[in-house]
Parts: sequence; structure tokens; C-alpha cells
Amino acid sequence: MTQSPNSSPIIATVTSGKGGVGKTFVTVNLAATLAAQGRKVLVVDCDLGLANVDIMLGVHPRLSLKDILFGNALPEDVIIPVKGGFHLLPACSGVREMAQLLYEKIQIVKTVVLSLEGYDIILLDTGAGIAETVLQFNLLAPRNIVVLNRELTSITDAYAMMKVLHQVFGRDTFSLIANAVADEREGEKIFHHVDGICRRFLGFPLDYLGPVCRDEAVPRSILRQEPLVLTDAGSKTAACFGRLAEAVSRWVQPRPPGQAIPGAEVSARGILH
Ligand SMILES: Nc1ncnc2c1ncn2[C@@H]1O[C@H](COP(=O)(O)OP(=O)(O)OP(=O)(O)O)[C@@H](O)[C@H]1O
Ligand SMILES: [Mg+2]
Repeated sequence: MTQSPNSSPIIATVTSGKGGVGKTFVTVNLAATLAAQGRKVLVVDCDLGLANVDIMLGVHPRLSLKDILFGNALPEDVIIPVKGGFHLLPACSGVREMAQLLYEKIQIVKTVVLSLEGYDIILLDTGAGIAETVLQFNLLAPRNIVVLNRELTSITDAYAMMKVLHQVFGRDTFSLIANAVADEREGEKIFHHVDGICRRFLGFPLDYLGPVCRDEAVPRSILRQEPLVLTDAGSKTAACFGRLAEAVSRWVQPRPPGQAIPGAEVSARGILH
């Protein structure tokens, strides 16, 4: 199923308070699942300076977001098709000026992302924490998917990040994914814990997208540089991503009347499928 031409693309960050909780793994597998469900999906690697979506997918991009930001390339030169049936706008690793990107450059990323047509869903994989670049990417996207796991520090850091986004910037809508959980019950327990704290201290409830189970096949899939939902399509973990993708697909927004409808094949180089 593809998106109705009467709806706008969903733009969401996949973010976290604490690092290493599974954002990039979740982004890649959610993107592949959404693509398998017929959605046109773009992943933007916004973990500037320490990009690794390309590594998880086993691609070696020649160009990156840096080339767009510094005026050396157009988005359609940089976006590449990847395993899993979606597209990637890669970043680069080990570049200090990207890790400390200025506000104006982040506004350029915003303009670029908003100008990309032909996608149903755009997922921005951010770095962790409350550094200014991470906060700005979260503000850029209308939806924020917060990944956390059972570790207390991942829960407290997720709360701290949502608190800053709420108290400084007025954000009050966040969707949680409980990653690496033993079962659905553990995922719900983690969600209710954070939801209770947010209701009590910030005054708003959270949205629960669902769990992803802890699976020994995850590190193996990362080593193989292939999305787990492709190599273990019948697994419990792949089923988790199926449910998450359905929940995300329900976010499709009606396009305001009179707004231009993006075509499905607008890229100058025909990169979109
Ligand atoms: N559901 C899971 N089951 C088992 N291991 C997992 C699961 N999700 C993630 N991992 C492990 O956690 C590690 C970190 O995952 P990932 O790189 O996606 O985290 P991240 O939040 O993107 O990290 P960073 O903050 O550095 O960007 C992976 O190498 C993987 O081995
Ligand atoms: Mg990551």
C-alpha cells in the first residue's frame, strides 16, 4: 500500500537520551519493514560526526550530508538505494565540523528534508542526548520516536531529554519504543514507568509504539550488515517491527487543502522508485 496523494509525508526522529540503546538498529529495521509494506521510505543519518547507518547496511557512500551542507552536491546526488528497499541520505564519520554543526546548517538540513518529495515516511536517526544538534533535529521533525531499554540510566536519560524538549521548546508529544525487552509485559512496564513520571512532573502522557524483543540475532545481523527483518523474516523480532510499522503508518496526516501534491518520481536523477 502506498500513501494517498492527499497526505503529507511522516517525518520522525528516532532518538534517545542514552547512547547505544538501539536507535540505528530500530531505524534500519523499521524502515525496511515499512518499505516491505509498500511505503516509500527515506532514512536520514543525523548522527553527525559518528554516522553509522551506512555501516549497518554495508554501503560505502561516496557523498554525504556534508557535501549538501557545504554546497558540493545536491540531495539527489547523495541519496542512495539500500538493502531493505528504502533510501538513505548518509552522513559521515569522524568529521569535527559536522559534530558541532551550527544552527544555520541544521536549518539547511531542515529545508532539504522538507523539500524531498515522493516519500511517505522520512526517519531521522539522531545521536543520543541533549546536545544542541540532537535537540534541533528533534525540533525539526513533527514526530519524535524515543528508544529506551530496561536500564535505569536509559529511562532517566530519556526522561531528561523529553523534559528539556518540553520545558525549553514546548514539545509534549513523544512516542516510545521499548527495545531489547524479554517480552511484551516488560515493554509495557518500562512504558508505564516513564509515562507515569511524565504525567506527574511534566503534565502530559506519552504514546507507546510498542516493544522490540531482545534477540541474540541482532548483533549477528549488524555484523552481516543486513536488516534483521530480511534475514530473520519469520522471527519474533521481525513481528515486533511489523506491529511498529503499522502503528507508524497510522500517523499519515491529511494534506491541507490547496497544498501541492508531491509526485512519486520527482528526483532529477530518477533515484526514487
Ligand atoms: N533488540 C536487541 N536485542 C539485542 N541486542 C540489541 C538490540 N538492539 C540493539 N542491540 C545491540 O545494541 C547495540 C547498539 O545498537 P545501535 O547502534 O542501534 O544503538 P544506538 O542507540 O544507535 O547507538 P548510538 O547512540 O551510539 O548511536 C548493537 O550493536 C546491538 O548489538
Ligand atoms: Mg546510532
